[in-house]
Amino acid sequence: MAIVNPVQPTVDVRELAPDELTAAWHLGRLAFGSDPQPPPQAVTPSPGRTTYGAFDAGGQLLGKAVDLHDEQWWAGRAVPVADVAGVAVAPEARGTGVGRALLRTLLRDAHDRGAAVSALFATTPAPYRACGWEIAGQLRTLDLPTAALPRHRPDPQLTVRAGTPADLPAVADLHQRVTRHRCGLLTRTHPRYDNAADELPYDGFTIVEHDGHLLGYAGWNRGRGYGPDAVLTVEDILATTTEAARTLVGVLASWHSVTPTVRLTPLPGDAISTHLPLEIAREHERDTWMHRPVDIARAVESRGWPAHTRGQVTFTLTDDLAEWNTGTWQLTVADGNAHLHRVTTQADLHLTVRGFALLYTSAATAHTLAETGLLRHTTPDPSALDLLAAGPPAQALDYF
Ligand SMILES: CC(C)(COP(=O)(O)OP(=O)(O)OC[C@H]1O[C@@H](n2cnc3c(N)ncnc32)[C@H](O)[C@@H]1OP(=O)(O)O)[C@@H](O)C(=O)NCCC(=O)NCCS
Repeated sequence: MAIVNPVQPTVDVRELAPDELTAAWHLGRLAFGSDPQPPPQAVTPSPGRTTYGAFDAGGQLLGKAVDLHDEQWWAGRAVPVADVAGVAVAPEARGTGVGRALLRTLLRDAHDRGAAVSALFATTPAPYRACGWEIAGQLRTLDLPTAALPRHRPDPQLTVRAGTPADLPAVADLHQRVTRHRCGLLTRTHPRYDNAADELPYDGFTIVEHDGHLLGYAGWNRGRGYGPDAVLTVEDILATTTEAARTLVGVLASWHSVTPTVRLTPLPGDAISTHLPLEIAREHERDTWMHRPVDIARAVESRGWPAHTRGQVTFTLTDDLAEWNTGTWQLTVADGNAHLHRVTTQADLHLTVRGFALLYTSAATAHTLAETGLLRHTTPDPSALDLLAAGPPAQALDYF
């Protein structure tokens, strides 16, 4: 698609051909300071991934962006997502509309392929805010002093053992049970999560079972050394009962003599978190994630809604980048489902696309949005739009 703007005369954005992926990778390497050699998967076409390039009139590559065709759980239903990654513009072309042109085309194609919402991890929110994404949460990786983790005598009812690749299907099943009723978490069904059947994705894998049924797991990488700087990095940890969570945390505590620090990314409010001394955690890394609807009608209809929520509200929405969202809409929520249809009546509530994102992810209320200017209203009380924020708050657990 050729996009014209006042500074950069013409930017042509299109999906890259396989032989253009290496040039795009080098653009990303310059922006993100990656290793000098590309990993093979970055320069060969792979399923569930579209890489876009922006070119000037002379055919010079100016920028690139990737759409990962993901799925997220939203209150019990898997919603198709455009996860945006690897957005990079050549330094000399920054600030001239290349990023916006890339994101516009990515959104249009994501809409055409059926995506409902989009998420991204932002190094800087400003360019994404300008294009309709808004900050909805943070993914925090924490360091905990291993010696402060609660020790625990092994529960005689539970079996603790080292996992093997044969346990991975049960782990995927447990992950689904914990995540599917939440909002915003990846289903991990994207091809990048496919593991070789005979390989563990980590150094080690601790399993907790009852009568042969998996109740909790922790996948960890040992790291090097056993001095004061040694860290045990827990890549993935979940449990479905408090006993299994306590047992897993007890196993992590047993590392105190050789890895003084345990590093992990807890899922807020889950069974593991309730056994961690979070008050003394130090933040190792914080990644800010942003959300945007791709298609508001699809976003509302493809997700689950709380069964007890019922109501109706009419609002207008303006979306400069995804114009199919612009209009006056009536939202109806009942019996765990919701519908959005266009209406011709006047609305008292005027929502920006960033405001829609904040309500949909339950990161704001109508009153707080009105204070930020992302919602304008001509009625004294805008809270009817809280209907859109009725679901549990969206979360993130996986970086991409
Ligand atoms: C971030 C990046 C991709 C933005 O692309 P770009 O082509 O420079 O952005 P555009 O010129 O299309 O600008 C789009 C909007 O973002 C705004 N914007 C862009 N960069 C900005 C910045 N650093 N600070 C504030 N606003 C910025 C622009 O003003 C514009 O908004 P407007 O139309 O309302 O004025 C580019 O600067 C880049 O490659 N940076 C280095 C790598 C990086 O940080 N990538 C992001 C990874 S998440």
